[in-house]
Amino acid sequence: VNKIKVGVIGAGILGSLHARVFHEMDDVELVAVADNDASRGTKIGQLYNCDVFTDYNAILDNPEIDAVSVAVPDHVHRKPVIDSLNKGKHVLMEKPLAVNLEDAEAMVEVQRRSGKNLMVNYNNRMALPYANMKAVIDNGSIGIPQQIYAKKLLTIDTPTKDLSWSASTSPIHFASTHDIDMICWFLNYPEVKEVYAVGSKKILKSKGYDTLDGFQAIVKFEGGVSATFESTWILPESCSSRVDGALQIIGDGGILYLDRKEEMVTYVDTIKTNAPRVAMGGIVNNRLQGIQRWSQEEFIASVRENRKPSIDGEMALRTVKICCAIEESIKEEKIVKF
Ligand SMILES: NC(=O)c1ccc[n+]([C@@H]2O[C@H](COP(=O)([O-])OP(=O)(O)OC[C@H]3O[C@@H](n4cnc5c(N)ncnc54)[C@H](O)[C@@H]3O)[C@@H](O)[C@H]2O)c1
Repeated sequence: VNKIKVGVIGAGILGSLHARVFHEMDDVELVAVADNDASRGTKIGQLYNCDVFTDYNAILDNPEIDAVSVAVPDHVHRKPVIDSLNKGKHVLMEKPLAVNLEDAEAMVEVQRRSGKNLMVNYNNRMALPYANMKAVIDNGSIGIPQQIYAKKLLTIDTPTKDLSWSASTSPIHFASTHDIDMICWFLNYPEVKEVYAVGSKKILKSKGYDTLDGFQAIVKFEGGVSATFESTWILPESCSSRVDGALQIIGDGGILYLDRKEEMVTYVDTIKTNAPRVAMGGIVNNRLQGIQRWSQEEFIASVRENRKPSIDGEMALRTVKICCAIEESIKEEKIVKF
C-alpha cells in the first residue's frame, strides 16, 4: 500500500506517543515533527529518523504530507488546527477541541469548509472496558439509562509537574471532558437541558497554580436522564494510580459499573503500591498497543477510506458546550439553561 505521510505538531507527552505510533504503523510514514521547544522535537527526530522543525508551518508547506497530529496545550489548539485544515491537511487533534466556545465553533466551521477530516482523540472510547460498556447499553441489557455517575480523579503531579500550562485549562476541560464525551456517546447525543455545578480554587491556587482544584456537576439531558460528573486533580502522589476513574449507569432494567481504581495489576516498590493503567495499553510485540494506537489507526483508516472519523469535530463541539456551561455555572453560581 502507498504510505500515508504524516507530521506531528507538539512533541510533548502526548505528541511523543503520536509520533511513536505513526512510526510503528506499517502503512504510515512519519515525515516530520515540530515543537517550539527544539530539544523536544530533536529527541523525536533522533528516535524515529524524521525531520524536525520549530515552526509547524514547515510541515504544512510540505505538499507531500497528507495529515497531521496536533498535540499542543489545551488552550492553543485553534491556530495550528485551523492552519492545518486550511493547508489541506487531515487533522487528528488532542482533546479537548477547545477550552472556549468561540475557538471550538471556529474550528468546526473551518473543518466543514475544508472537506478534510478532523478527528478528536477521545481515545478512552477505544479502551476495551468502555467499548464493552457501550455494547452493553446498545444491546439493551440494562434497559434505558436513567441516572449516571462519572468520576475522574487525578493526582496533583499532573497540574504541578507534567503540565506547564495547567492554569490555562482545568479538570473540566482536561479530565472530565473524556467522561462527558463518553456519556454523550453512550446516550447517542441527547440534547442538554440544563447544567448546575460547583467547584473551588483553593489548594492549587495557594501553590501558585491559578486553576480549579475540582468540581461536581449535574447535567440534565432531554428525556429526564441526568448525569453527575466529578473530577479533581489534587490527589496525593502516593495514590496507587494516577487516575482513579469510575462510571455507573443506572438503567430502567439494570445497572452497569466500571471501576478503574486498580486495573487488575498492582506492584509494590519501596515507596508505594502502584497500579499501572493496563486497560489503556502497553508494549506488545515491541509496539505500543492499546487505545492510542487504535485511535490513530481509526484516523488513518478514515483518511484512506475517505469517510468521517468515528469521533469528529461536531461531537467534540457538544462536549465543549457542556464543559463551558459547567464553567459558567461555577462562576455565576446559577443553573445554566440550554
Ligand atoms: N488523549 C489523552 O488521553 C490525553 C492525555 C494527556 C494529554 N492530552 C492532551 O494532549 C495535549 C498535549 O498535552 P501534553 O501532556 O502532551 O502537553 P505537553 O506540555 O507535554 O506538550 C505540549 C507540547 O506542545 C508544544 N507546543 C506548544 N505550542 C506549540 C506550537 N504552536 N507549535 C509547536 N509546538 C507547540 C510545547 O512546546 C510542548 O512540547 C493537550 O491538549 C492535552 O489535553 C490527551
